[in-house]
Amino acid sequence: MKARPVEKSPGVNLYEQVANRIQSLIKEGTLKPGSRIPSVRKMHQQMSVSITTVLEAYRLLEDRGLIVARPQSGYYVRHILSLPPAEPTSSAPPGLACNVDTSIAFKINKVLREPGMIKLGAAVPDPELFPLAALNRLMGQVMRQNPEVCHSYNALPGLEPLRDEVARRLMDAGCSLTPDQILIVNGTTEGMYLSLRAITKPGDTVAIESPSYYGLLEILQSLHLKALELPTHPRSGLSLPDLENALSQGQVAACAIVSNFSNPLGSCMEDSKKKALVEILERYDIPLVEDDVYGDLGFDEMRPKAIKAFDKKGLVLYCSSCSKTISPGLRVGWVVAGRYQNTVEQLKLFTNIVTAAANQLAIAAFLANGGYDRHLRHLRRAYGEQVLRMTQAICDYFPPETKVTRPHRRSRLMGRTSTPF
Ligand SMILES: Cc1ncc(COP(=O)(O)O)c(C=O)c1O
Repeated sequence: MKARPVEKSPGVNLYEQVANRIQSLIKEGTLKPGSRIPSVRKMHQQMSVSITTVLEAYRLLEDRGLIVARPQSGYYVRHILSLPPAEPTSSAPPGLACNVDTSIAFKINKVLREPGMIKLGAAVPDPELFPLAALNRLMGQVMRQNPEVCHSYNALPGLEPLRDEVARRLMDAGCSLTPDQILIVNGTTEGMYLSLRAITKPGDTVAIESPSYYGLLEILQSLHLKALELPTHPRSGLSLPDLENALSQGQVAACAIVSNFSNPLGSCMEDSKKKALVEILERYDIPLVEDDVYGDLGFDEMRPKAIKAFDKKGLVLYCSSCSKTISPGLRVGWVVAGRYQNTVEQLKLFTNIVTAAANQLAIAAFLANGGYDRHLRHLRRAYGEQVLRMTQAICDYFPPETKVTRPHRRSRLMGRTSTPF
């Protein structure tokens, strides 16, 4: 394919004109789905525009969901679903608090250990996507450099280099924290477990999304807590009017939700909704356990804010980890428990004392200078592509009435919301 030079037209940015031209070539079928589009350098020569203009145009086309960048390979035309699948609407749970029984999840988990079973329901990252060589090197390095620390009980709230890195990274989520507000734990699961233990007693009711992450249900069951499922929209998340209604009736002791790219729906609350949620919590003085394990993994460059970013009164217990981004096996996570920090720290001590030092130091070193940002860009692209391929496979092989959620992203350039398909 050879593109003509663009003639500048007034009122439209040059990069938009370049993007529009390439978009037409895609629509007309000159550039076919899956095909590689000319390199930035080639397009710069063919269209007689600067390299920066071509790069901006390619980014705009990525935002429009038309092309996708593959590391060390170039830009490719996306497979666009000819007929986008129907999307589910908001859930409508019965509105009654009930005991939780997760025995079916346990049974399914057992079966999934059998070789050859495909885990369609588990959000388990492919280890091939992780920087295993770099992590192994860092693991050896931190053990050689800190043998005593790595083989001792380290003190709560966890090792400083990691807490420094987590505090720095959480600035991207809109949180201004000092490292001593952060407690290191064994993954998000332990963070949520300790947090819920700190703010509830057996028999209490916890308001959750419907459907909810099954791991949260397992924690509720093990703590003898009741679940009150609330209507949840697959894009915008939990219904705030329903939450406020439940809180106003005095039947809820705490809330627990996945704030960004929830599992299983993929929903992500807008910032304004997160702020409104915190205002409701403050009005009724009810704590919320925020699971932000997917916050770094949006398909957009801008990381969405955490609910914690709007929390002035210490009511949000923020939990996350490196399980979906760097390594689930190292079991390194963190909690920012606000006004419940002391209680959560004590519970951590009673439960398993501390999190393994070598694991903390290796993750700290990777976050500090292991190329985390580059790795994240690679992961986000890979996950975005996988969503597309999975959706295509559902359209091809599942019954036609199957509905598919669309994890969304916010467009960097246009301030609008778009989906990857
Ligand atoms: C929403 C959610 N929270 C937490 C976890 C588990 O996180 P971790 O490995 O950090 O305990 C998962 C794993 O699937 C998840 O989907």
